Amino acid sequence: MSEKTPASPSQTAAPARKLRQATRLVHGGTMRSQFGETSEALFLTQGYVYESMEAAEARFKGELPGFLYSRFSNPTVAMFEQRMALLEGAESARATGSGMAAVTAALMGQVKAGDHVVAAKALFGSCRYVVEELLPRFGVESTLVDGTDLAQWRAAMRPTTKVLFLESPTNPQLEIIDIAAVAKIAHAGGAMLTVDNVFATPLLQSPLEMGADCVVYSATKHIDGQGRCLGGVILASEEFIQAHVHNLLRQTGPAISPFNAWVLLKGLETLPVRVAQQMRSAATLADHLAGKRGVARVLYPTRKDHPQHELAMRQMSGGGTVLALDLAGGKDAAFRFANQLRVIKISNNLGDAKSLITHPATTTHQRLSPAIRAESGIGDGLLRLSVGLEDVADLIDDLDAGLAAL
Ligand SMILES: Cc1ncc(COP(=O)(O)O)c(C=O)c1O
Repeated sequence: MSEKTPASPSQTAAPARKLRQATRLVHGGTMRSQFGETSEALFLTQGYVYESMEAAEARFKGELPGFLYSRFSNPTVAMFEQRMALLEGAESARATGSGMAAVTAALMGQVKAGDHVVAAKALFGSCRYVVEELLPRFGVESTLVDGTDLAQWRAAMRPTTKVLFLESPTNPQLEIIDIAAVAKIAHAGGAMLTVDNVFATPLLQSPLEMGADCVVYSATKHIDGQGRCLGGVILASEEFIQAHVHNLLRQTGPAISPFNAWVLLKGLETLPVRVAQQMRSAATLADHLAGKRGVARVLYPTRKDHPQHELAMRQMSGGGTVLALDLAGGKDAAFRFANQLRVIKISNNLGDAKSLITHPATTTHQRLSPAIRAESGIGDGLLRLSVGLEDVADLIDDLDAGLAAL
C-alpha cells in the first residue's frame, strides 16, 4: 500500500478465485504495505498525514480513498473487518471495542423514541440491561418473550416494532431459537432481526443466510480464543451498516484499538482448528457427564436429549464449545464440584483455550431476581462449562474429581 493511495482490502485481498473458508481466514482482507510483510501489519496510529491541503480536502470529501482518523478508520481494523465479512458472508462489517459496544450500537442505531423492540428473555445479562433498562430510558419500549415459543414472538409484535433480538444457543442454558422463523415474523411485521451469534461462532451457524438482517459478536470469545483482548463486530448489508451503524460509531466512538484488532485478526487464522478441537472435547465431556450420580441434566445442543435437538441439528453444523450441567444438589453441590477442579478454571469468560467453569446464578446472572432466573431455567445447580484446548483425558479426570465430591 503506498502512502499516497491506501489500497482498500478488496484490492489486495487473496486472489479473485473463490477460496474456501479456512483459506479465507488465513489470507482474507490482507493489505500489505510497501514492505511486503508476511504477517499483517499493526498500524498503531491515531491519524494520517496528507501530502497537500488539496489531498486532505479530497479525502474528507470522499473523492480520494484513504483513512482519516482511527476512531472510525484504520488499516489494521479494516483488515479485521474485511476478514470477518468474508467469514460471515456479509457485505459489510464494523468492529467495536467490545461485544457489548457492538450489541448496544447495533440496537440503538436501529431505533428512535416511540419504537418498540422484542427480544428473547434468555439473553446475556448486559444485553438484557440494554433492552430492558437502557432503551426505555430513551423512549424505546421493549417486550421480552420466551424465545423458543414462536407464538409469543408473534403476539408481541406491534405496529411500532422495529427490532427483534435474540441469541442462540442462549447463555447459559443453551436453548435453541428458530432463527429463520423469527426472521419471517420480523419481516412480516416490517421489523428487522439482529442475532447475537457468540455461542455458535461464525463457523457453526450463519444467521444472515437464515434471514437475519444483522449479526453481532463478542470477538472477545472464540475469535480471540486465547483470553487476551476485548472486541466486537457488527455484520450486515452495506445498506444496513450505512443506514444504522456507520455514522453512530463514527460520531460516538466505541472504537476498537488497532492492537486488539490485530490480535483478533490473527485469532481468525486458527479459529476453525480451535473450534473443531474444542467442540470434539465438549461433545465427549457432555456424554461423559450425562447420567452420572448427582448430575440431573446435561445440556449440549447435538445430544439427543437436548430439548431443541432437532432444531439445533437443522440450523447449526455443530454443537459448539460450551455445555451446561445441572447438579441435583443445587448451589452447594455446584460449589463443591467446581472447587475440586484443578485444570478447569473458575471464570465467567468463555471461548478460551483454557477450560472455564462458571456458576451463572451467582455470577453472570446474579443481577436477575430468583424468580426470573427460575423462569429462565438458571437454577442454583446449573454450571456452564466452556471447553478449552487441553487434552480431553485431563478434563475427564478433573470432572471425575468434581463428581467424586458430590
Ligand atoms: C452472548 C454474549 N453476548 C455479548 C457478550 C458481551 O461481550 P463483551 O464481553 O466482549 O462485551 C457476551 C460476553 O460474555 C456474551 O456471552
